[in-house]
Parts: sequence; C-alpha cells; structure tokens
Amino acid sequence: MVAADERVEPRDWMPEAYRRTLVRQIAQHAHSEIIGMQPEGNWVTRAPSLRRKAILLAKVQDEAGHGLYLYSAAETLGVDRAELLDLLHAGRQKYSSIFNYPTLTWADMGAIGWLVDGAAIVNQVPITRCSYGPYARAMVRICKEESFHQRQGFEVLHHLSHGTPEQHAMAQDAVDRWWWPSLMMFGPPDDRSPNSARSMAWRIKRFSNDELRQRFVDMAVPQAQALGLTLPDPDLRWDEEAGHWRYGPIDWDEFARVLTGDGPCNAQRLEHRVRAHEDGAWVREAATAYAQKQAARARA
Ligand code: ACO
Repeated sequence: MVAADERVEPRDWMPEAYRRTLVRQIAQHAHSEIIGMQPEGNWVTRAPSLRRKAILLAKVQDEAGHGLYLYSAAETLGVDRAELLDLLHAGRQKYSSIFNYPTLTWADMGAIGWLVDGAAIVNQVPITRCSYGPYARAMVRICKEESFHQRQGFEVLHHLSHGTPEQHAMAQDAVDRWWWPSLMMFGPPDDRSPNSARSMAWRIKRFSNDELRQRFVDMAVPQAQALGLTLPDPDLRWDEEAGHWRYGPIDWDEFARVLTGDGPCNAQRLEHRVRAHEDGAWVREAATAYAQKQAARARA
C-alpha cells in the first residue's frame, strides 16, 4: 500500500512500529504548536499598534488550532490527547527545540514568522503527501496558514529594516539570534538521525533532514537580501556547480543541550504549560458535564 503511494487510513492494518512512529512524530508536532504559542504570546500585550496586535493574536490562535488538528490526527491512532499531554508535562515527549529560545524584542515576532514559520513550511509541505491519511490532510490547512504567518513575519521585518537605524538594528539582532536555531529545527544531520531511514521507507518523511535544511537555506538567502538584512554565517557562499547556498557548521552541542532540557527557556516553557493545564481543569470539567447533559437529553 505504502509502496504504491496509497494512503493508510485509521481502520487499515498497520505495523505496530509504524503506528508508534506516527504517534511520536504527530504528538511532538502537536506539542510544538501549543508550546509555540508562548514565545509570541509574550508580545501580544506589547504589540506596537492595534493592527499588529490583532494580527499577532490571530496567529497565536491559529497555532492553538493547529495543535487541535494534530491531537485529533494522533487520536485516530488509538491514543488519547489527555495521555499525550501528560507525557509532555512529564518531559517524556518532546516539542520543537526552537521554542526554547526567548523573544527579547518586537523584531523577534518578525524573525519567528519569517524564519521559524518559513522552516516549518519547508518541513511540512512534504507531510501533505505523507502515507498516513489523517496526518497528511491535517497538514494541508496548516501549511496554508503557516504561509500567511511567514509573510506577516517578512512584512514586520521589512518594515523595521527600512525604518530608523535603531529599528534596522533591532531586526538584524533578531535575525542573528534566530538563524541558527531555525536551521536546527530540521533535526540532526542525516548520518545522526536514527528515525530517518525507516520513516522515509514508510513515506512518513519524504525528504531527509539535510535535504530540507538545504532547501530552506536556498530559499532564505535571497529573501534576506530582499529584506536588506544579513545572515550570521561567515561561511555562507553560493556554490555555482551545485546550485546551492553552502552554510557553515551548525552547533550540534547546543541542539543536544536544548533537547535534553538545558536550553534558555525549557524550564519556563514547561512550567507555564503545566500551570495553564492545571488552571484550565475547570473548563475541561465544565465541557465534559455539558457534553454529558446534552447526550442525556438526546437519549431522553
Ligand atoms: N526539536 C526537538 N526534537 C527534535 C528536533 C527538533 N528540532 N529534531 C529532531 N528531534 C528529535 C526527534 O524527535 C528524535 O527524538 P525521539 O526519537 O526521541 O523521538 C530525535 O531528535 C532524532 O531525530 P530524527 O531521527 O531526525 O527524528 P525524526 O525522524 O522524527 O525527524 C523531524 C525530526 C524532522 C522534526 C520530524 O519529526 C518532523 O518532520 N516532524 C514534524 C514537524 C514538526 O514537528 N514541527 C514542529 C515545529 S514547527 C511548528 O510547530 C511551527
């Protein structure tokens, strides 16, 4: 079925390891969406204008929506979202490394939109063709929204880059801080990526981590030029023969530290998530009671 490029659907037979791999990846993806609301949520009350505030609020809400589609996709594999959230809160399931970095200035909203959502699109568009139907379909709408997010980030940075010298410096500083962590989003290099070979054979992943990272760099370099900003990599050079932008070494030790919980904001992000979950218990209880009442009425 997979070899014939057909979709696997929830009721089809599937190998247990295929199911487990999907639960792992989709859960990590869903967790990233909801933890990813925090770095930007941090700026909602401090947006420089009402227009910017409305746009940012809508974007953060979109991310909550992406989390919901993805938890629903995971549930088609026989897990419960409550169980997945417990694993996240206990530090037993991962979320993207990128959301463990702080958002220090307003320009970070631009850099996140342009680079982080840009990287997310490059990674996620191929997932619209993933072998598991519910995950592939969830990704179609997510990618459309991410592409809007990326454009708004580009526009924020363009505005700052062409503003006062202070604004330009703020935009440059944000890009300098977000560039390398964005490249790390694609995961470890292919020769150190334990899951890639199998996930590619199963067509969950259609391209390797390094292939997608290269695609992202090739896309970002001309966009940085259009923004009037530079990328913080002295080794960046055009390889005429290969038709690619070559980039310098990535600090994989930093990536490993962030993955093991020692990034700049890991503890803060998880604490905030657990607190929000506990504070929201009454909402879940009320929703459950309401659903039970409605079901009882429908039966009567
Ligand atoms: N952040 C956190 N963990 C990561 C990252 C990252 N950037 N990259 C890789 N990892 C983890 C993997 O989950 C895996 O951990 P595990 O085996 O303990 O679960 C380990 O590092 C080794 O990596 P790989 O073997 O390369 O793992 P995989 O084949 O799953 O590839 C990738 C990683 C590319 C992130 C893949 O899971 C994927 O495409 N996921 C869907 C996209 C996604 O989750 N995006 C979230 C951020 S985008 C956003 O929300 C805006």
